[in-house]
Amino acid sequence: MLHRAPFRDLRRRIFSTTDMRTEIRTVTAQDGTRVWQLLGQLAVTYRPDEAAFAATFNALLGRKDTVFLVATADSAAVGYLLGYKLPTLFANGPILEIVELVVDEPRRGEGFGKKLVEGAVTRAWSDGCIEAVVMTRRAVPFYENLGFVRSADYLKLKSPC
Ligand SMILES: CC(C)(COP(=O)(O)OP(=O)(O)OC[C@H]1O[C@@H](n2cnc3c(N)ncnc32)[C@H](O)[C@@H]1OP(=O)(O)O)[C@@H](O)C(=O)NCCC(=O)NCCS
Repeated sequence: MLHRAPFRDLRRRIFSTTDMRTEIRTVTAQDGTRVWQLLGQLAVTYRPDEAAFAATFNALLGRKDTVFLVATADSAAVGYLLGYKLPTLFANGPILEIVELVVDEPRRGEGFGKKLVEGAVTRAWSDGCIEAVVMTRRAVPFYENLGFVRSADYLKLKSPC
């Protein structure tokens, strides 16, 4: 049986992202279909609704308070990141909150997730953000590997409507 982790290590060595044309760029209207497909791999708690997705996706395009990025490999989108630059009083300035990050399952372990986070925080720092935060359960070791440290608990209250 072929184990996933060694296979990923092999892929990483053979298909290093430096060998292909990779780009981290802002999402455009043309990325909608691909982002919708990738969202399907991210959602575990909620089932994505295509109409709700389309409305929100279009509203996000061009917003100045978002960091909405795709990673491409040879022009094909292989992952995306959505974050918000939130004004805060406590931090004496805005912070970046990463709310969605996903890399296409067959392309994981090739550095795209890291590049997306680096792209987001670089943009956030240059826009004056003080810190970056993320809520995640599944990807804690991934973020710790990038220098994030555990800070607070994350609590949720669902609308009764
Ligand atoms: C988490 C996720 C985005 C990581 O993307 P990726 O492209 O596979 O990660 P990368 O290849 O960029 O890995 C970057 C580094 O993190 C490490 N890493 C990646 N996933 C890891 C994990 N689960 N645990 C520990 N380390 C991890 C890699 O080994 C690599 O380390 P290195 O730079 O020292 O070699 C991807 O696994 C994913 O889409 N998961 C499902 C969705 C999800 O959990 N999203 C996060 C919710 S916010």
